[in-house]
Amino acid sequence: MKKFYVTTPIYYVNDVPHLGHAYTTVAADVLARYYRRAGYDVFFRTGTDEHGQKADQAAKKAGEPIEKFVERHAMVFKELWKKLNISFDDFIRTSEERHKAFVRENLNALKDKKLIYAADYEGWYCVPDERFWMEKDLKDGNCPDCGRKVDQIKEKNYFFKMGQYQKQLVGHIRVNGNFILPQSRRNEVLGFLEKPLGDLCISRPKSRLPWGIELPFDKDYVAYVWFDALLNYATGDLHAGGDKTKFIPCWPADLHLVGKDILTTHSVYWTTMLMALDQPLPEKIFAHGWWTVDGKKMSKSLGNVVEPGKAADVVGVDQFRYFIMREVPFGLDGDFTVDALISRINVDLANNLGNLVSRVLTMLEKYRDSQVPQRKSVTDDEDVETENALEAVAREAVDRYKRNLEQLEFSQALSKMIVLCDTANVHIVQSAPWELAKNPADAAKLDNVLYDCAEMVRIIGVMLEPFMPETAEKLKRMLGLDSFGEPKWGELEGGEKIVAGEALFPRLDDKGMAKIRETLAPAVPKDAVAEGGQITMDDFMKVDLRTGVVLSAEPVPKSRKLLKLLVDIGTEKRQVVAGIAESYQPEVLIGKQVLVVANLKPAKLMGVESHGMLLAANDEGRLVLAGTWEHVKGGLKVK
Ligand code: MSP
Repeated sequence: MKKFYVTTPIYYVNDVPHLGHAYTTVAADVLARYYRRAGYDVFFRTGTDEHGQKADQAAKKAGEPIEKFVERHAMVFKELWKKLNISFDDFIRTSEERHKAFVRENLNALKDKKLIYAADYEGWYCVPDERFWMEKDLKDGNCPDCGRKVDQIKEKNYFFKMGQYQKQLVGHIRVNGNFILPQSRRNEVLGFLEKPLGDLCISRPKSRLPWGIELPFDKDYVAYVWFDALLNYATGDLHAGGDKTKFIPCWPADLHLVGKDILTTHSVYWTTMLMALDQPLPEKIFAHGWWTVDGKKMSKSLGNVVEPGKAADVVGVDQFRYFIMREVPFGLDGDFTVDALISRINVDLANNLGNLVSRVLTMLEKYRDSQVPQRKSVTDDEDVETENALEAVAREAVDRYKRNLEQLEFSQALSKMIVLCDTANVHIVQSAPWELAKNPADAAKLDNVLYDCAEMVRIIGVMLEPFMPETAEKLKRMLGLDSFGEPKWGELEGGEKIVAGEALFPRLDDKGMAKIRETLAPAVPKDAVAEGGQITMDDFMKVDLRTGVVLSAEPVPKSRKLLKLLVDIGTEKRQVVAGIAESYQPEVLIGKQVLVVANLKPAKLMGVESHGMLLAANDEGRLVLAGTWEHVKGGLKVK
């Protein structure tokens, strides 16, 4: 049996999981599910990277013992993967004994081969990146990678003789055109390797960082977190009763999925480590792009981090999985916006796929007593042609879908499924089964139209299964199948009892969309201007800013922050909900003159409709309402 061993990076535990983590992990899951179905012996490993300075500092900041801290965070990842239906075979934590033993074993092996040596290191160190830099590498005296400040240090350390493998590595990358993908990234790595490759510092003195795997040959040192983490991919599998000091039996990995930021560590550090250990290299390393959110880098300080669990709760797990796999070609950078998410759900899933399934099942229910009819052999040329045409479209789409998936073109693979939905929807319109149903002489024709549609839906089911496992289960139940079978035309036998009624993907109405926006819309960056974001006069003129006079004010029940106001804005009296309850007593507001954004999309806050927004200055949390210097009537335009 052919094997397929796929990995995700193991994630740092100093932070909550975000969209980027979910992206790689869902991609790996789609492949794992696809290859399992294709009969491969699949092993899918993910996990957490628990050593190093970042975890150590985060635990200290949280005032929690490090072991407890990393355990708690590892569980957050595990729980999230459960929620997102990630079908990993192994979740590895680098603080587990099996991994520590494996790392020590390999450190000893390299030391015995004289590929590790001790030397004095003098230079600059970037704490957040946990990387050393030479003076010449610094950019304006700061870390060339992240731009943050670096510390000067001098200390004894252990080094791995990475430099001596440079030629061998370049040769391997050149000969194996698909070793590093996409090609643009492969070229970047080759470019990087044009400069001399130095040796790799693989230790940290315990005096500076006690949290790590102790070097078996010097108890004053722990292993550098990347050296430790990369070995996770080969750590033996205890569950399988294997020898924990040996490489995992399914080594080499068929695919390491990584983000573009960690390609060098994988394609240079890891591969040279493997060469030194006389182990085969992974088949393929694929570096995907990065997500921004509304065009901006995702960051805690901007408050725009997309939390996958939250997203899945509000839009549905499969909808979320579909969106991230469909929206951006794998390998390129992409932008996450709530509008794009909503549009994918409504256009692709509700209107197209969902609508198709519901039409087909409703017709089967109505015209054929909820059973898939057998296809009748007919001599009508037109009918035979239709079948052949549909079969050809399906075959072509499935072939391309497979090729796409095997080349990690997730978005393109899904577009083939959408093509089949379109084809089937058009076929329904063109063959007008509701007309055929009127004439008993067309019974066989109607059977065939219904059979063809059901068969299309089944094949669509095969295609969506790796991406949307819950939907696949639902759809199988609806079609009365235990398994979708093969994506080959004509596998439905007829007689399958279908279950109509349930909507596969309900269309998002205004309320649904508003809920998604409320939950996911990233907070507007407080310092958009400081970020370099500028708006044009046109942008500003889009805002209908007006004077208003407060007519009444009262607290919103059960809310600490919100007040419900009635504001005279000249043309009308507007209900506005404002988050100023901690700064103002309602009664002092009556008669006050305020500035109102009058054309803000209405929203519900704590269940109360708000039709506008008041302007206020934020003085360290205390909100101070803005108005004009002199008291004027409501409804004047503010420019
Ligand atoms: N612990 C290391 C990996 C060690 S693997 C032996 C690490 N962890 S991480 O938690 O910081 O990042 C893991 C992955 O998340 C990386 O592949 C990175 O590319 C990805 N992403 C982080 N932010 C991202 C986006 N904004 N968009 C897409 N992926 C991003 O690095």
